Amino acid sequence: MKRIVSGIKPTGSLTLGNYIGAIKQFVKLQKERKDDEFFLFIADLHAITIRQVPHELRQRTLDIAAMYLACGLDEEKTVLFIQSEVPQHVELGYILQSNVYMGELERMTQFKDKAQKGQESITSSLFTYPALMAADILLYDADYVPVGDDQKQHLELTRDIAERFNHYYNNFFTVPEPIIPKVGARIMDLQDPNKKMSKSEDNPKGYITLFDNENLIKKKIASAVTDSLAIIQFDPINQPGLANLINIFASMSDQSIEEIVEKYKESSYKNFKEDLGQAIVDVLKPIQEKYQALIKSDKLQEILDKGRDTANQYAFKKMRKCKQKIGLGRK
Ligand code: TYM
Repeated sequence: MKRIVSGIKPTGSLTLGNYIGAIKQFVKLQKERKDDEFFLFIADLHAITIRQVPHELRQRTLDIAAMYLACGLDEEKTVLFIQSEVPQHVELGYILQSNVYMGELERMTQFKDKAQKGQESITSSLFTYPALMAADILLYDADYVPVGDDQKQHLELTRDIAERFNHYYNNFFTVPEPIIPKVGARIMDLQDPNKKMSKSEDNPKGYITLFDNENLIKKKIASAVTDSLAIIQFDPINQPGLANLINIFASMSDQSIEEIVEKYKESSYKNFKEDLGQAIVDVLKPIQEKYQALIKSDKLQEILDKGRDTANQYAFKKMRKCKQKIGLGRK
């Protein structure tokens, strides 16, 4: 039996990028790996590395919890919890900060990108973010961590930290493997296909959220940037906008890129986009209905209570052993 761990940060509404790169993979893995354990959480502590409005943060945290389930995760097989409700994440995060070097954190491209936007608003926790992320993973001895492409570097650092710790303290953590999807690991912005689709972008036309209605989804796809070549083929270098849409289509309809290209090679961009808009709506509509039923239910609260308790049991035991290893506190 293997353990699979992953998280999503509640900073803005979930996007199609989060769905394709992460949640859809969790659901797929859960169907394929029937004997494995899934620990999935909402990384609210990671969200506060940037200033958040309290009631919005809390609402988004619950929204993500409900969306995980609405997207098809099996509640019986998932330990679903909120990161801040398991205090050992912070405790281990601090210990791992003491096992990672400034130079390593400075090399993280996500930090560099965010830091570029304005020195004064950079908190120290944004800098040490990867140590907390490593704690999220190592606390549960994760074997696998399914993520989108943008988290690859953080995962590599997590592995380095685990190996370093294991070297000093005699094999204590499982060194995790990332699982990155072959198609859809990096969904791009609909208006600027050179940057990643992100929930924190200013221009809402660039991303589709899992909460967008039919009309809005179709409009955003219709206005997505393509090119003037007017040929449907998969060419990410010369036709990055179209390649991104083909990627989205392949993921949302469970077809290969080749199948999509074959089907639409004679079509106009307009027809292609209409079918793509419909394919997205067909997937998201039932998810939104399930979300609506869950968000108001006691069931969601019960699942989160149970998840918190199970995660706490694991985390408590691991931290007790960890402190023993390091020599913290009394025996
Ligand atoms: P976050 O909240 O930015 O994104 C959640 C997941 O969605 C994936 N993703 C994408 N995949 C494809 N295309 C995109 N445009 C796209 N945008 C986001 C991300 O790769 C991620 O898998 N630091 C993490 C949260 C986290 C975490 C963890 C993840 C905290 N602790 C431990 C795994 C394990 C983050 O900010 O993801």
